[in-house]
Amino acid sequence: MSIDFSQLRHYLDSLVPARSETMQEMEAYAREHRFPIIGPAAGYLCYQTARMIQAKRIFELGSGYGYSTAWFARAVQENGGGEVHHTVWDAELSEMARGHLRTLGYAGLVNYHVGEAVQTLRETEGPFDLIFNDIDKEGYPGSLPVIADKLRAGGLLIIDNMLMSGRIFDESNQTAAVQGVRTFTKMITTSPEWIVSLVPIRDGLIVAYKR
Ligand code: DHB
Ligand code: MG
Repeated sequence: MSIDFSQLRHYLDSLVPARSETMQEMEAYAREHRFPIIGPAAGYLCYQTARMIQAKRIFELGSGYGYSTAWFARAVQENGGGEVHHTVWDAELSEMARGHLRTLGYAGLVNYHVGEAVQTLRETEGPFDLIFNDIDKEGYPGSLPVIADKLRAGGLLIIDNMLMSGRIFDESNQTAAVQGVRTFTKMITTSPEWIVSLVPIRDGLIVAYKR
């Protein structure tokens, strides 16, 4: 026997408890418009880890229309309140996110930034309990020192697309995005500052604990 990854992905998503109508609408929009949200299983892992460390301050780099933000905001609300920072380049995506997150009841928790995510994090006062990174993949290596600076000791970094649909294994692929993921993975897994696992949910998430 070997594992069929498409079957595995559907199975993992099927284990996530039923979502609200708004969350289901956000998932349907992603399917219809081929928008790369993290999906239910990865979203639930984000929610779970944020609950596990009692996160109250979370910063997201590359937030799209707020699907991952919604999972983090739910965790922060259940943790007793705090703040989630949503950051995107695109003002239209930011507007969409504001609508969704207001409907979900998280308006009071979320701070919105429109701009380049790493620079925005640089300009935002830390420390954070959890940082989520889903920016353009060529930007991953450059983001790591900024993230390390803004995350508290004992905080978590979660970073998406660590498998690039398998393109990281294709040595002939030297695109900036794939090289960015390879370089980032090498940097963080060889650094004594971090305890790192790559969790192969959807497109691979690194979950890294800052010592
Ligand atoms: C794609 C997926 C992502 O999760 C992302 O952050 C960017 C792009 C993609 O499938 O193209
Ligand atoms: Mg992604």
